Amino acid sequence: MIVLGVESSCDETALAFVKDGTIVLGSEVASSVSKQALFGGVVPEVAAREHVKALLPLIESLEKKSGVSINNIDAVAVTRGPGLIGALLVGVSFAKALAVSLQKPLIPVDHVHAHVHGALLGLTGNVDQLFPALSLVISGGHSNIYYMRSPTNFEKLVSSIDDACGECFDKVGKILGTPYPGGPHIEVLARSGNKGSVDMPVMVKERNRLEFSYSGLKTHVLNTFRRLSLGVGDDSLEMAQIKADIAYSFQEEAFLQIARKIKSVQKVRPGTKSVIVSGGVAANQRFREIVAENSATEIVFPKLTYCSDNAAMIAALGFCLFKNEQDARVFDIIDWDPYSRQSIHT
Ligand code: KG4
Ligand code: ZN
Repeated sequence: MIVLGVESSCDETALAFVKDGTIVLGSEVASSVSKQALFGGVVPEVAAREHVKALLPLIESLEKKSGVSINNIDAVAVTRGPGLIGALLVGVSFAKALAVSLQKPLIPVDHVHAHVHGALLGLTGNVDQLFPALSLVISGGHSNIYYMRSPTNFEKLVSSIDDACGECFDKVGKILGTPYPGGPHIEVLARSGNKGSVDMPVMVKERNRLEFSYSGLKTHVLNTFRRLSLGVGDDSLEMAQIKADIAYSFQEEAFLQIARKIKSVQKVRPGTKSVIVSGGVAANQRFREIVAENSATEIVFPKLTYCSDNAAMIAALGFCLFKNEQDARVFDIIDWDPYSRQSIHT
């Protein structure tokens, strides 16, 4: 079964053809991040307008590169939420129009849940044996840990009470003067930082509190940077070292907080067979090391291309939802709406 995935929740317009849930036949992403970088963050209206421009050329290049015609798909899966509402409306309208014209079922997909399936793309063998699993979605908008009994069963155990992890990296990037998004730049800066040169607060250290908090870390970085950089020349070597040391210590605590929660959750939910890691922050090599050092079970990391937003993950989860549904006619009903923040189910 070939599913077309459609993703437009934020600043990436993406389309993909995925066969049987894990085999990617083609995956195209057009990012408006360079346009957003001019404003230092995502401007919702700019994102929505860029989706309008990008979708049709993208479907042409997807067909060309994959050799698959849009007429040969079996279903359309689309991000229903959460995301920027104007951006979602573009993708959902596009997907509804396609499903109606091709007379194919339309599968609405939760973007955050779909990230987990991004980690499963390309896996051969029986994916079901990874479950029950703990899954991490560490992205720009979310820091969630789920207990999953099966590939489509999501029980949210941990989320952030304030900023998401990736969002915090982007804000710290702004403080240290990196381009947007800050995450990849902080990772590079941190490589020249010295261990122990800057103190960081230990966030939510109580073992039984199953929640993340990142905004205190960001405020601490701001105050520390202001204090240490007083009277130091902007282009000096000393300034470069201050930034690297702060990036190092910030990154360590940002990820150690996640390691502590994995351990706590593994105690609360013993017997899980794997930790499935996903989201844009999962591209970070230090993050991968820290997770690997702190998990008692097998860990599944996504390929780098499927860490950040893409449509293959949407098609992959769409396939599983379709396969699970007893009565597939439910996907012929298309009078539903996107949601901008919380899923209507959780
Ligand atoms: O999953 P994603 O592409 O979009 C959302 O759904 O949010 O995640 C984007 C986030 C951004 O905050 C970005 O700074 C962060 O992922 N990110 C990283 C790295 N690469 C991307 N954070 C830390 N280290 C990286 N190497
Ligand atoms: Zn995402």
